[in-house]
Amino acid sequence: MTGLTEYGLGLRIDGFSPAGSGPGNLARPTVRALLREFGVLHFTGFPDDNDAYSAFAHWFGRPEPVFPAEHQVPGHAHMRLQTNVRGRGANAGGQYWHADGSFAEVPTSVTLLYCEEAPQDEGETLFADMRRAYLLLPDAVRESLPGLLGNYPCRQIAARDMERAVMMRTVTLSEEDRRRQLDHLYDFTRPLVAEDPETGRRALHLNQHWLSDVVGKPDSESRELLGLLYDTATAPSNVYRHRWTAGDLLVWDNASVMHKAVPAPRGQIKTTRRITIAGEK
Ligand SMILES: [Fe+2]
Repeated sequence: MTGLTEYGLGLRIDGFSPAGSGPGNLARPTVRALLREFGVLHFTGFPDDNDAYSAFAHWFGRPEPVFPAEHQVPGHAHMRLQTNVRGRGANAGGQYWHADGSFAEVPTSVTLLYCEEAPQDEGETLFADMRRAYLLLPDAVRESLPGLLGNYPCRQIAARDMERAVMMRTVTLSEEDRRRQLDHLYDFTRPLVAEDPETGRRALHLNQHWLSDVVGKPDSESRELLGLLYDTATAPSNVYRHRWTAGDLLVWDNASVMHKAVPAPRGQIKTTRRITIAGEK
């Protein structure tokens, strides 16, 4: 096992097989504890086997169904195909800083992302350490955060996104699909800082798409505060940049890190399969 950064974000694990007994074999409680400690786990050479992948995802909890269904890997309702190959699955992952499932009142807890085909250049996924970001803030700012809430007007934002996606023909959605998607979205607030109930460690929770402003602050103050939080979290010295190789499986804890995808250069294929694990209230 090798650390991915000098400051404790991320761990690479070689030779792991969820069903095997190789030198990298680890039990489920150990893997879960490592994820909690390091925020991101990088398994190299994971088998290209959707059943094994799906079984492994259950180690972390209950997989969420993929919506819309046309983005599913055929035969795997919980596995999302993400590729820049036109006409297959979903586009690449979000190209803005986010935690997965932030649009839900109970966000996704863990994300698994398996790389089927990696581009030769770029196409990385970036991870920002949100626990370290909290500690790196100036004292006065950090001390002002507990109790502050972010606004997540998700229903309004999703309605606008769907209009745009349908217009750009990046997805086809029937009226019923749209209604179903909007039906489970709400406008809500969420603390800017979350505390892990087991460890007491605190982390920032931000999202460049769904988080609009800070409750009770004038626009300029809200923008200034969020700007400082994003700048601290996403400073290159607080970010792990993952260059993909086919067979990589990344598992991350959405409460400890936020991430963003870098697109692959034109003409180079990037294909991944994603499973997300439902959060618990
Ligand atoms: Fe994502």
